[in-house]
Amino acid sequence: MAKTLRQDLREAILAKLAKKQDPLAGFYADDLTREAILAVLVAGRHLLLEGPPGIGKTTVARIIASLLPPMESIADCRYNCHPQKPACPDCTGKKKLKKIKVPGVNRFIRIQGSPEMMPEDLMGDLDPVLAMRIGIQDPRAFTPGKIQKAHRKILFIDELNRVPQRTQNTLVQVLEEGITTIAGFDLSSEVDTLVVATENPEEYAGAERVSETLSDRFEQVRIGYPSFEDEVAILKQYGNTIEGVTASNDIIQLSVAVSNAARSMPDELERLPSVRASLSIYEQSQSLARLKNSKKVSKTHVEDAAKRVLEGRLAVSSESRYYEKQDVLIEKIVDQAKKIKN
Ligand SMILES: Nc1ncnc2c1ncn2[C@@H]1O[C@H](COP(=O)(O)OP(=O)(O)OP(=O)(O)O)[C@@H](O)[C@H]1O
Ligand SMILES: [Mg+2]
Ligand SMILES: [Zn+2]
Repeated sequence: MAKTLRQDLREAILAKLAKKQDPLAGFYADDLTREAILAVLVAGRHLLLEGPPGIGKTTVARIIASLLPPMESIADCRYNCHPQKPACPDCTGKKKLKKIKVPGVNRFIRIQGSPEMMPEDLMGDLDPVLAMRIGIQDPRAFTPGKIQKAHRKILFIDELNRVPQRTQNTLVQVLEEGITTIAGFDLSSEVDTLVVATENPEEYAGAERVSETLSDRFEQVRIGYPSFEDEVAILKQYGNTIEGVTASNDIIQLSVAVSNAARSMPDELERLPSVRASLSIYEQSQSLARLKNSKKVSKTHVEDAAKRVLEGRLAVSSESRYYEKQDVLIEKIVDQAKKIKN
């Protein structure tokens, strides 16, 4: 009997741990956060990651998917049937079924949550053109939604809180029973999936809530900004480098220090800079060096890059005395960063 996605995931995590390897390598967070995530996954529960933008939520979801072993499926089957029991409308009635192997990293379906998302986007819908041609009762006239396509895969729902409540509710049955009933058809399809969803915290503008019925089906893990050391490591691993320019460790640290300095002034700011801001400062400081024909990035390059990056990103809070004096606040942030670094 084929293993379920959860079994596959659990075994992959435990195998890594047995070999003293880090199952979440590439995702930087404190040990407690990492342990919380692994505990949810090993228990086979759905995971809801809560945290501000740009702190590694999508990154960790992709890393989780990449842990999965490859799976066997059938060519042109949109429901990812197992070759031992092909049962979907794509597979039934076909004379020859061609086996395929899907690599672990492709066992990942991503949905961007938005207020426009309809239940049909998740649950599938009748294709009117096909229905006219082959008949409205024919299950082949049904276009599967993201849910059916996520069978035997990880379903990653980014910003679940932006999905309208009505659409959120269609997820409840799937999470609970692992089955979708296809409206109007005498057809239900099994969905063996594990959902990793993200949610921005309430303080973010325009953030709605994940409904209580739905959030009760998830295990929540909060992720915060990475530590200074972790953020430096993130820049080293993920930051782009420009050929012909070198950036020393000090330069990387100063880039991170800028974001950290801004984050230490939450009262002045509507939005705090994310890790993306640090990455951008680091990358643009290299561009500046390159444009000025320097082989090495200097602190001045970082400061200039930082001012530009912050200018475009920061929103000074209306209660702050720096309201309408953004440039002064930015100077202050950069000064503070130089102190953090020393
Ligand atoms: N904790 C982290 N570990 C590893 N990489 C990170 C981390 N935080 C941020 N990054 C890096 O910063 C960039 C943004 O990260 P990512 O897309 O995962 O953030 P996110 O939390 O999903 O953001 P959003 O809420 O905007 O979707 C990526 O290049 C990623 O490599
Ligand atoms: Mg993301
Ligand atoms: Zn099939």
